[in-house]
Amino acid sequence: MKVAVIGSGYVGLVTAVCLAEIGHQVISVDANEAKIEALNRGEMPIYEQLLPELLRRHLGRRLHFSASLSEAVGKAQTIFITVGTPKSESGEADMSYVDAVASNIAAAVEVRKLIVEKSTVPVRTCELIRRTLLLNGAAEGCFAVASNPEFLREGTAVKDFLHPDRIVIGADEEFGAAMLQEIYRPLITGEYHRRPGAIPSPTGAGAPAKLVQTTVKSAELIKHACNAFLATRISFINMIAVLAEQVGADIDEVCAGMGSDPRIGSQFLRPGIGYGGSCFPKDVAAFHSVAAMAGVDFSLLREVTRINDEQRLRYLAKVREALWTVRGKRLGVLGLAFKGGTDDVRDSPALAVVGQLCREGARIRAYDPAAMYRAREVIAPPTITYAEDEYAAATNADALLILTDWKQFVELDLHRLHSVMRCPIVIDGRNIFSPQAVAAPGFEYHSVGRVAVGCFRPTQDRDVTLPAMVARPHPVPPMENRRRFGVSAHMGSPDTLPR
Ligand code: NAD
Ligand code: UGA
Repeated sequence: MKVAVIGSGYVGLVTAVCLAEIGHQVISVDANEAKIEALNRGEMPIYEQLLPELLRRHLGRRLHFSASLSEAVGKAQTIFITVGTPKSESGEADMSYVDAVASNIAAAVEVRKLIVEKSTVPVRTCELIRRTLLLNGAAEGCFAVASNPEFLREGTAVKDFLHPDRIVIGADEEFGAAMLQEIYRPLITGEYHRRPGAIPSPTGAGAPAKLVQTTVKSAELIKHACNAFLATRISFINMIAVLAEQVGADIDEVCAGMGSDPRIGSQFLRPGIGYGGSCFPKDVAAFHSVAAMAGVDFSLLREVTRINDEQRLRYLAKVREALWTVRGKRLGVLGLAFKGGTDDVRDSPALAVVGQLCREGARIRAYDPAAMYRAREVIAPPTITYAEDEYAAATNADALLILTDWKQFVELDLHRLHSVMRCPIVIDGRNIFSPQAVAAPGFEYHSVGRVAVGCFRPTQDRDVTLPAMVARPHPVPPMENRRRFGVSAHMGSPDTLPR
């Protein structure tokens, strides 16, 4: 099949490269000419595992890049729209990029083509794309519009695309359904997975993808409902973590107990500093607006967002509590991306935390394996400094903050880390370490939903002795935070008084 993919961002690029990988002739289009030139030179504008290898495999053969939408649309039978749908000020999705692309496509369709919305869009967008095409001069019989939402995650995007749990095809006409089935046939039949050189599945099993065929509106709703549901799970577990801390329970044990129920499952039950990224925050807001416009009060989503916002504040309260005062303190920060495995810092909770601590006068030295060049565009030196590696970020620090769940952080040499820090305090917003592992070198360790360990407590004569690893509930949040978070009473033991 000849395919055009309009928008070469995180989703468009993965879509274009992976459609070439399964055998199609693809033109990837972007309005950003510098990006297209770089891609044509074989340079990858984003950090995403396996994408550079596949780009090298297909560039100039089945995969081409162009800044000309009309040229690409002229050549393609199917056109995927993968431009951004960011949050507007009112919370609704800003559909102006999709609208602009649809208007431009209208001028270029002459024979019947399929237009596929892959961007995450409000229900009824297909109808509006159709209307835009007609208003801009496309003839009624020259196109069909279908929905094919994308479920890939950044960091594992290539494997998610090539080994999806399901492929959702929302089409109200046979033409659209048949074209999309043909495009995805190698994944639906498993034929791609049997090819020599195919990208292996994360589990090694390589099962064919399940095809979910629906109406257009159902497909549009599925995408928003999935993201809103996953965000809800995260906010739910974050509230359980707050509760666990207050009563001295252990969130890991709670998650293990909950996740063992197959009706609940263990995924998306990791507590932390709240979800971020370019999708969950904006999609939850957009879905809330979609519901409101349909006359449905989906107030649960407001609560999900509120809990998520407060999760960052809770973490900040923990940092203040552990440091006593923030102004002038040197803080090492590990992680700036919104999650591990990506360079994406859009709506990153890590950057939000760093920004706030800077405003409070902390001196921050940060390290992220992939996201520093993007983070610099948001928080430039000298507001914070960027370190060469994790140990450089920790050197002479009064505390080390873990804000992104990069796998390589888990493998750090904790004894070495301890030896370079001024004060051995770790405040882990992602629970990447077990309290036992950090206890051995003698860290004071604060995490999410688990008791803090190794806390220093000055004795009366100020002879500060290195503590035995005393497990204790997290210190009482300051009154102001207790009010803000609605914590009514501290339920720790008497020896948990604030230092
Ligand atoms: P992005 O910002 O990384 O990429 C969008 C690209 O579209 C940019 O390169 C931009 O230059 C280009 N563009 C904008 N207007 C254009 C035009 N008129 N013509 C050609 N190119 C144009 O966005 P993204 O993260 O790839 O997200 C795209 C959509 O996919 C969003 O709706 C998002 O919600 C959805 N989505 C994203 C993910 C993800 O993990 N990022 C996953 C699933 C779905
Ligand atoms: C998410 C969805 O997982 C994808 O299915 C969807 O396609 C995509 O959004 C989208 O529509 O854009 P992504 O944003 O790449 O993918 O990343 P996730 O792994 O879902 O993580 C999102 C945020 O939630 C991150 O900040 C992550 O740290 C956080 N998270 C995730 C948790 O705090 N706890 C968890 O258990 C899981």
